[in-house]
Amino acid sequence: MSILVNQQQFHLTNGKISYIFQVLKNGQLGHLYFGKALRERDYRHFQRTNNPTPASCHTYEDDAAFSLETIQQEYPVYGKGDFREPAFMISDGQKPIANFVYKSHEIVKGKPYLKGLPATYAHTDEAETLLIVLEDTYQQVELELSYTIFKNEAVIARNVRLINKTDGALSIDRMMSLSVDLPHADMEMVHLSGTWARERHVKKRKIEQGIQSVSSIRGASSHHHNPFLALTALDATEHIGEVFGFQFVYSGNFLAQTEVDHYGTARVQVGIHPMGFQWNLSPGETFQTPEALMVYSDQGMNGMSQTFHRLYRHQLISEQWKNKDRPVLINNWEATYFDFNEEKLLHFAKEAKELGVELFVLDDGWFGKRNNDRSSLGDWTVDLEKLPDGIASLAEKVKSTGLQFGLWFEPEMISPDSELYREHPEWAIGIPGEHFTLGRNQRVLDYTRPEVVNYIFEQMKEIIEATNLDYIKWDMNRNITEAYSAGLENQGEFFHRYILGVYDLYERLTSEFPNVLFESCAGGGGRFDPALLYYAPQAWASDDTDAVERLKIQYGTSMAYPIYSIGSHISAVPNHQTLRETPLSMRADVAYFGTFGYELDPSSLSNEEKEIVKAQIKRYQSLRHLVRDGEFIRLQSPFESNETAWMIVSKDQTEVLVGWYKASSTPNPRTNQFVKLRGLASDRGYNVDGEKYFGDELMLHGLPLPVEFNGANGEQAERGGDFQSKVFYLKAE
Ligand code: GLA
Repeated sequence: MSILVNQQQFHLTNGKISYIFQVLKNGQLGHLYFGKALRERDYRHFQRTNNPTPASCHTYEDDAAFSLETIQQEYPVYGKGDFREPAFMISDGQKPIANFVYKSHEIVKGKPYLKGLPATYAHTDEAETLLIVLEDTYQQVELELSYTIFKNEAVIARNVRLINKTDGALSIDRMMSLSVDLPHADMEMVHLSGTWARERHVKKRKIEQGIQSVSSIRGASSHHHNPFLALTALDATEHIGEVFGFQFVYSGNFLAQTEVDHYGTARVQVGIHPMGFQWNLSPGETFQTPEALMVYSDQGMNGMSQTFHRLYRHQLISEQWKNKDRPVLINNWEATYFDFNEEKLLHFAKEAKELGVELFVLDDGWFGKRNNDRSSLGDWTVDLEKLPDGIASLAEKVKSTGLQFGLWFEPEMISPDSELYREHPEWAIGIPGEHFTLGRNQRVLDYTRPEVVNYIFEQMKEIIEATNLDYIKWDMNRNITEAYSAGLENQGEFFHRYILGVYDLYERLTSEFPNVLFESCAGGGGRFDPALLYYAPQAWASDDTDAVERLKIQYGTSMAYPIYSIGSHISAVPNHQTLRETPLSMRADVAYFGTFGYELDPSSLSNEEKEIVKAQIKRYQSLRHLVRDGEFIRLQSPFESNETAWMIVSKDQTEVLVGWYKASSTPNPRTNQFVKLRGLASDRGYNVDGEKYFGDELMLHGLPLPVEFNGANGEQAERGGDFQSKVFYLKAE
């Protein structure tokens, strides 16, 4: 990997990608290229400054070609002739116009740490970072643009800092983490959108002149849009073609947009949503944006996803957890909801242990007086009516069966019916004395106040220590309304300060208790983002555990996230979210491709089902190393047909796991049915279910599927009806 600097031209390359920009003649930075690696040479001819266009404004009287309206830019400003949306806007209370020109640069080994913000990390031999300082010609303000290139990955990580060197206050009204001008817009935009119970569905649209965006102004990255977008060449597929993927390492309000201009270029921007954002910067202060990532793939969407997966596995998920197998868990939520006592839970745990489960998670309802969702959030002390011997005693009893013990918390919330609220109503977000909006009967705690974060930290610490806790499910079940903190001078800072408070609590808990495994959750997958993966290496993907629905959710989630971060459990039928009844086998076949667990009452299982569950758990335990660090490949999309297929290949290509699913039956189906695999060693023989096939035939012709019922082949048929699935394990000889 190297960062080449030649005559004020900067070229970041690692043999896979090149990212190139230069200082323009007006001192601003002009973008030249982002894509597959290019050789070392001068690329200023990529910037078409010799092309005057009718009616555009130009910087110099004697050079009509030098127009910021057409020049590809690196971090564009407003007010100097570029009429596309700028990367940032600041004002000193008067003019919102800036002119940032190159001042200096520095190259550092590794990657500087972003204080207070989750971000990818790298040792000194794993990455290099280019820091460019720009200064405003109007006032003493500096911008520091940071670009990290990793040794082996087709990724650039970016962030920006603004330093106020004036002697007055400044206001930041917009400050994106990333802006890039791509030379054409003949592309489609892919994003991951949905709502509760159908998170991260894959959506595609052709981009057109104008702005197309995904965003959140809910105070959380949201169920509705993931902080992700990709631009794909029109001929790109899952496996071939150019794809540019973007992710924002942030959990709050965000904007990810593509602006196509009148000359057909595409400007992508990713950052904190400017709506409602306004940050006051006092003299000498610095504002640091969160990190944004840009990935290039010439191997379609799968190529992009695999880069994100490796990056998150190696450079984002904490050292403590990145190489660790995740325990098979059972969670009591759908089995009991709020209705449990110690006896019931211990019976549940004992049965779960007999099935082979490793971690027992006690969900909502163990604290305060919480018999429904109308009370007690904020009171993190055990409910002695349900658990008279206390939480430490329950933990000890569960642990004595050989299980690990985990607990549910919703640390950011407060119920109006709680001791905490009676004592500190001012700790809830909202305008004092005015009407407030409820969500799931609760309000949100004001995490912009350090004393609130401290208080919750102390409460959680006490429980973690008393129970010697192994796992925490950190939930967050409503979005923010009446975004106002009486403790803040400037409400424009509210949303960002809120998320900084959340990160602060995560940081304190994970540093003090590094052995506690955190799983993030937000009414299912309402805050599944890279920033939280930094603290919580797994996330509850969705409250929807229906196997058919999960195909879409997990397929979509895998676009950006490694599958060992995707919480995927088997629940009871009829499914609590869809009332659909899928077979136990299909529910497991889907759940194997994530962090595996159960969300049901073991005593509701028949003896035969218990034996099946025992075998499922054993199977997962023997395969989870593949889920952890194999390469995940999507083969057939549930968004495009009735059949879905995906696979994992071990790094050395000796082990393969294939998942194949069919949601509803086909009358008189095709006679020849195969799934074409990928990523195998062509010349190696692979054994599967007692048969041997070579890698090339599996990739070129395909893996045969079991014989399907066709109305006349009752004797030979191995599968039929709705909800078919099969997971194949292939082992190289
Ligand atoms: C949210 C979560 C569920 C469960 C409930 C408990 O909806 O997504 O998994 O924990 O809260 O109230």
